Amino acid sequence: MAMNTETLLKQRLVCVAVIDRFDDALPLAEALRAGGLNVIEVTFRTAAAADSIRRIREKCPDMTVGAGTLLSPEQVQRAVEAGAQFGVSPGLNEPVLAAAHKNQLPFFPGVMTPTEVDRALNLGCKLLKFFPAEAAGGAAMLKVLAGPFAHTGVKFIPTGGVTAARLTDYLALPQVVAVGGSWMAERKLVAEKAWAKITALSAEAVNIAGEPRKP
Ligand code: 3PG
Repeated sequence: MAMNTETLLKQRLVCVAVIDRFDDALPLAEALRAGGLNVIEVTFRTAAAADSIRRIREKCPDMTVGAGTLLSPEQVQRAVEAGAQFGVSPGLNEPVLAAAHKNQLPFFPGVMTPTEVDRALNLGCKLLKFFPAEAAGGAAMLKVLAGPFAHTGVKFIPTGGVTAARLTDYLALPQVVAVGGSWMAERKLVAEKAWAKITALSAEAVNIAGEPRKP
């Protein structure tokens, strides 16, 4: 299983998707890819999650496919068996981390406070989801939160409530590897099969993320 942090670093975007119908998995992946977005995190919030990951991995080998909302070791196992290349959780769950470690699954747990960053570092995690990014104070909050930990090499993927309008502020922070969010493929857009719209929103995000960092 390839560690795809390189890919995350390169494109700096993660599309977080909630897929209700397995049949939507491939058209969704193709719509993202048509917009140039190659990283998708399929959340384990629906029964279609594992099969959707498997399908996208089979049919879109150029995409990086992760599993999100992993709340139990059993879900980690299912995600790995489906071919997930990275895992994400909203919080810091030690049995989930242990399962990811056992399976050599790159894993990005969610944190929101200095204590949680500290704890994640002590558990060996160096790339963390900052969640819920916007509600927790956005890029300004993350900048201050990351400050005392910068020398440890910890990096973040801010996610939660982010939109295209906020992307540049997050990506300007040196500790931000990538930004995650569902804004380019909201659950409603997927349910409506609004593939052209998803392609357009993906292309917009890729375009913004491709701009040089702010000085
Ligand atoms: C989530 O877990 O729902 C993700 O963080 C995505 O959040 P968003 O839907 O607000 O972008």
